[in-house]
Amino acid sequence: MKLWAGRFNKDINPLVLDYTQTIDIDKRLIEFDIWGSITHVLMLCNQNIISQEHGRKILQCLVKIFEDHRQGKIQLERELEDVHLNLENRVISQLGMDIGGRMHAARSRNDQVVTDTRLYLRISLLNIQQELLKFVEILIDLAETNVETVIPGYTHSQPAQPISLAYWLTAYASMFNRDIKRLDKAFENTNLNPLGACALAGTSFPIEREITTNLLGFDGLLLHGLDATSSRDFIIESLAALAIIMSNLSKMAEEIVLWNSFEFRLVEVDDTFATGSSIMPQKKNPVVAELARAKTGRVYGALMQILTIVKGVTTGYSCDLQEDKPFLWQAIDDTSLTISVMCQQLQTLKFNTQRALSMSWENFSTATELANYLVVEINMPFREAHQIVGTVVNQLIKFGKTLSDVTDISQSLEELGMNISPEVLRELLNPIQAISRQTSKGGTAPESVQEILETLNRDIIHQKDSLAGRYKKIQQAFDKTFEITNQFISGIDIHIAISGVES
Ligand code: ARG
Repeated sequence: MKLWAGRFNKDINPLVLDYTQTIDIDKRLIEFDIWGSITHVLMLCNQNIISQEHGRKILQCLVKIFEDHRQGKIQLERELEDVHLNLENRVISQLGMDIGGRMHAARSRNDQVVTDTRLYLRISLLNIQQELLKFVEILIDLAETNVETVIPGYTHSQPAQPISLAYWLTAYASMFNRDIKRLDKAFENTNLNPLGACALAGTSFPIEREITTNLLGFDGLLLHGLDATSSRDFIIESLAALAIIMSNLSKMAEEIVLWNSFEFRLVEVDDTFATGSSIMPQKKNPVVAELARAKTGRVYGALMQILTIVKGVTTGYSCDLQEDKPFLWQAIDDTSLTISVMCQQLQTLKFNTQRALSMSWENFSTATELANYLVVEINMPFREAHQIVGTVVNQLIKFGKTLSDVTDISQSLEELGMNISPEVLRELLNPIQAISRQTSKGGTAPESVQEILETLNRDIIHQKDSLAGRYKKIQQAFDKTFEITNQFISGIDIHIAISGVES
């Protein structure tokens, strides 16, 4: 039965049905749609918009549908277009039009769909935060035991200065920590109630929007009905946050691919995170990292897609807006899967620390230390020291030497009128020592990294608390909805069952 068929003379063209139906996408909304409908009906009863007798029957039916859904027994029918019409149809076919047909007063699919989407997205944002938190904790754990492990640090992909492995790891922990905070903002703008906006203009029924707001665990309501039904900026903001997460993951993936190459050999991905070649027997390819890079493009695509959709849609719902969900779902899946697979890959990644140390001796990356020494010990202007060390490096390169050839360096400096013994130079140019000197706030020295770790740890504790609070609030709202519904169904007056929920 088509619930909107009254003004039509002909049935829909099958191709148009194919083109417009959203059944596969809407599957993820079933339980949120039922939860939303239950709170709506409770509100309608409380406001005497429908009778308590009718309300009880409808709620009984909705609770049964919910249980059936949890047992995997609900199949949505394509012919009924979307999740909303499917579920309303089910209620009407079970209770008859006289009762079931009363559920949709003071509501539209326009406020309904965006309510469902917000309910689904908010929990997805929390789940992604949880996965990121796990990742940050693992990065911190690995960092804590590697504050003195040397790896080459790069700028322009050229050896720059040695850093500790902990420093590299905490760089990502810092990025993901910010990503978690960014998701907080997206959550705040998502967790607002559009229900009660109706089609676009509100309603003449005496609805009470605070009831559905509280029973659905929203932090507040979207006051403006036309805005509430038209706007998708909460999706844009969420997808922007996901796109940024992916860009950070992709950066790490790129480093893993590069460092895992034979030429770098700084890391080795575990066998369990690689695949082989069908023709070249020697190959072990870092495909997880490669795919993480590529999937980033899909999430960017989702962001571009929603931005492009909304720019042409006038205020008030247009069907363009139903295309907001397919790519959002995809982006949620891609991001959470990429976070967990990259996290597990990192836990099994082998760092070739021996080679990292010898590369740091040979790649001239402690040259800045020598320049700084000349500034401090000889009171030379930095620009002049830079010039001199540059000349020394140039000579060393010419003779196939490195900064580990301290006798040669000592001689070159002597020719330039400076007396620095090979012993002092060995100490000065040692990458481990070099790292230990970068004690400025946010530097790579162990004590600076310690401070970074402490700050990260504090943030993590705070984030975990806030996340647990949000999960709990949602769960409590859900439990409360069903508790009130059961009391009401069992005969308690709606005003007693629901008391306290409005405030
Ligand atoms: N299936 C639609 C969506 O996903 C919801 C229905 C919107 N209302 C309408 N009149 N078509 O956005």
